[in-house]
Amino acid sequence: MKATPHIKPMNDVEIAETVLLPGDPLRAKFIAETYLEDVQQFNTVRNMFGYTGTYKGKKVSVMGSGMGIPSIGIYSYELIHTFGCKKLIRVGSCGAMQDHINLYDVIIAQGASTDSNYVNQYQLPGHFSPIASYHLLEKAVAKARDNGTTYHVGNILSSDIFYNADETASKRWMRMGILGVEMESAALYMNATYAGVEALGIFTVSDHLIREEFTTPEERERAFTDMIEIALSLA
Ligand code: HPA
Repeated sequence: MKATPHIKPMNDVEIAETVLLPGDPLRAKFIAETYLEDVQQFNTVRNMFGYTGTYKGKKVSVMGSGMGIPSIGIYSYELIHTFGCKKLIRVGSCGAMQDHINLYDVIIAQGASTDSNYVNQYQLPGHFSPIASYHLLEKAVAKARDNGTTYHVGNILSSDIFYNADETASKRWMRMGILGVEMESAALYMNATYAGVEALGIFTVSDHLIREEFTTPEERERAFTDMIEIALSLA
């Protein structure tokens, strides 16, 4: 059985070509137990839990990615290059950066701008635009529309900095139409693109960077289910 420094599959459990990547490994456990059938755990290294099961008869895996670009950079690289994953779908939360976006809306990340230097490894003679797989994007949008989910499609920010000393930075990103901020998708999109596989990030809005608003557990649950149903429909 193949293994990497961070993923050591147990009991010969295979990792599916489609893998959902929430940041929190306990979210991975919850998604596996709630939405998948015939679930088996494949990873416990660093408590970054990973599971494989089926959704409507299709094999799907779900594994924590950890927080931030270095962490998802490691896990997605190993999933692609050692375990043959072909569709990597980040499911997470983000902070809204536009007035017309509300708490619990779904954001589908067409592009992932970033303040990270992750792209430097490719030594490109210019500025690269990390973008989603159009095929996955199109399918996710169709599913969101069918489900009657309130969704937005566009550019997000994958930031290296949660507590930014520069308090004006987010205003400048807002001016460029960034819909929301999270901390992982740009690396996922770059790893996937460089390897010739597909990736997409889907988010629920958990907080608002313009308005002070609060979430309730019931509404979080509904929005979360909307997002997971869209993600699982891509398997
Ligand atoms: N910043 C960064 N990542 C996030 C946020 C945020 O405000 N909300 C959810 N993920």
